[in-house]
Order: sequence, then C-alpha cells, then structure tokens
Amino acid sequence: MSEHERTFVMVKPDGVQRGLVGDIVARFEERGLKLVGGKFMRIDRDLAEEHYGEHEDKPFFDDLVSFITSGPVFAMVWEGQDAVAQVRTMMGETDPAESAPGTIRGDFGLDLGRNVIHGSDTEEGSAEREIDLFFAADELLDYERVDETWLY
Ligand code: TYD
Ligand code: MG
Repeated sequence: MSEHERTFVMVKPDGVQRGLVGDIVARFEERGLKLVGGKFMRIDRDLAEEHYGEHEDKPFFDDLVSFITSGPVFAMVWEGQDAVAQVRTMMGETDPAESAPGTIRGDFGLDLGRNVIHGSDTEEGSAEREIDLFFAADELLDYERVDETWLY
C-alpha cells in the first residue's frame, strides 16, 4: 500500500460527448484523490494501439481502437492511497450492466464498449506504463493540497 500511488484515468469519447467530465472529476476529488495531471486531447491510432496493446489479439480490438480515437478524451493522473485499486473500485466492472449503482460505469455506462471511463488495472507496472505513454514528466505537478495533512 502506497500513500502516493499514481494511476492513469481517462474519460472516454462517450463521456466527453455526454458532458460527464465534470461529474467524473468531482468523484475523484470528493474521494480525496489528488489531481496531478490533466489533458484534453485526441488519441491517434498509434497511441490507441499501444495503450490497448494487451488486447491486440481480441475480437473487439478494432472496434475499441476506432471508438477511443473517435473524439476527444480527458486524460488524467490521480494520486493517493492505493489510487490504482481505489479508482478501479469507483469505476465498477468492465461491463456497465454488471456494475453496481454508485460506481461510475454503473451510473453512467451504456454498454461494454461505451463504458465512459478508463482506469489503469492493478497489474504491476500498468499504471506507470500508461502514465508514461500519455504524459511527459513535466506535465505531472508536485504540490500539496491544503487538506492533505488531514487525509493522510
Ligand atoms: P479491459 O481492459 O478488459 O477492461 P477495463 O476497461 O475494465 O480495464 O478492456 C478494455 C476495454 O475494451 C473495455 O473498457 C471495453 C472494451 N471491451 C469490449 O469492447 N469488449 C469486451 O469483451 C471486453 C472485455 C472489453
Ligand atoms: Mg483494462
């Protein structure tokens, strides 16, 4: 367990189109995670294929790459205690239909493809790999939030 663990999170094109960026950011802020990087951007095909490389042999890979490149995304890095697992819990399951109400996908997700949000999985090294893929070191800011000494 690490107090300053970082994870990569992204509001997918469906979330941006449906105006959910603010709601999603608010959930992580309210939970006490700290925003250390954020970027509104388009993902090109090369980045999409690299980001989702673990799925390149899956039948849904082409649709996944088309979807994630179909419009702007909001990419973020959040920091906090057990941030990777905490974000995964807040996201819900991959399939919104199996996600509990109160989770981001359970509340907003439409279907398995359009599930609103990406968050790094808990496999060792996943979060670091994705953070490095999307952000340069100087785009991640070190600062103290005023409530930090209360939270941790
Ligand atoms: P995956 O990494 O398994 O899920 P998660 O986003 O929860 O880490 O899959 C990546 C994305 O691929 C997932 O968010 C939605 C899409 N996907 C499908 O379209 N069909 C599928 O059967 C699966 C497993 C995923
Ligand atoms: Mg995944």
